[in-house]
Amino acid sequence: MSEVKEDKAFPFIEGENVSLCPLNMDHINLYAKWMNDPKIRKFERNKFPQTVEDVKKSFESKNQDVKVELYFEIWHKNDKKPIGYIGFPHIQWFIRNAFIFFLIGDTNYWGQNIATEAGKLVVNYGFSELNLHKITARTISTNMSSIRVAEKIGFTHEITLKKEVYIDGKHVDIVEYALFKEDWMKS
Ligand SMILES: CC(C)(COP(=O)(O)OP(=O)(O)OC[C@H]1O[C@@H](n2cnc3c(N)ncnc32)[C@H](O)[C@@H]1OP(=O)(O)O)[C@@H](O)C(=O)NCCC(=O)NCCS
Repeated sequence: MSEVKEDKAFPFIEGENVSLCPLNMDHINLYAKWMNDPKIRKFERNKFPQTVEDVKKSFESKNQDVKVELYFEIWHKNDKKPIGYIGFPHIQWFIRNAFIFFLIGDTNYWGQNIATEAGKLVVNYGFSELNLHKITARTISTNMSSIRVAEKIGFTHEITLKKEVYIDGKHVDIVEYALFKEDWMKS
């Protein structure tokens, strides 16, 4: 894979340590690597191997006139490289709700508050630019770091779906955390 050059980053939202950039199809091999990583796909519930073509298609097919999903690449400003992606995989414009999804694909950056920082940026974008009313974070009940990220951003537990998915040989719960625009704007 060719080296990722800084001039390939087009920041759309600037944070302190990360920028949120449009997805870059020159980095598609990296996205495919992240999606197939055993440490990551377990929580993403990717049961089948993803080829580079599969990953490319999954992003390209989302180019609708009215976007119902929207992703950003997470670009590490100091290290000048992409380290993950984040976005809204399901936007319902008429009720102004969306799900949030975050993935730090480069596991060397786990535990450095990156997902929390990127999450706050994308939540702020959702409420203050897209005029969303409610954002929901949906995750497996055993994905403690994802739950912690949701809590650090300001989400609160809303519902638990019992034994909803099958992971590591057993059924586990899905939890949903919610954040409303009025609460975000107050904070
Ligand atoms: C979940 C994920 C995005 C977190 O990214 P990150 O940049 O490491 O997150 P942050 O550093 O902002 O916060 C992680 C928090 O979880 C905590 N944490 C990590 N492992 C934990 C565990 N086993 N139990 C409890 N807390 C844990 C960390 O201590 C940290 O909290 P703190 O700041 O209070 O100490 C990353 O691990 C990832 O991409 N995982 C695979 C994909 C995934 O699960 N995405 C979410 C799908 S909804």
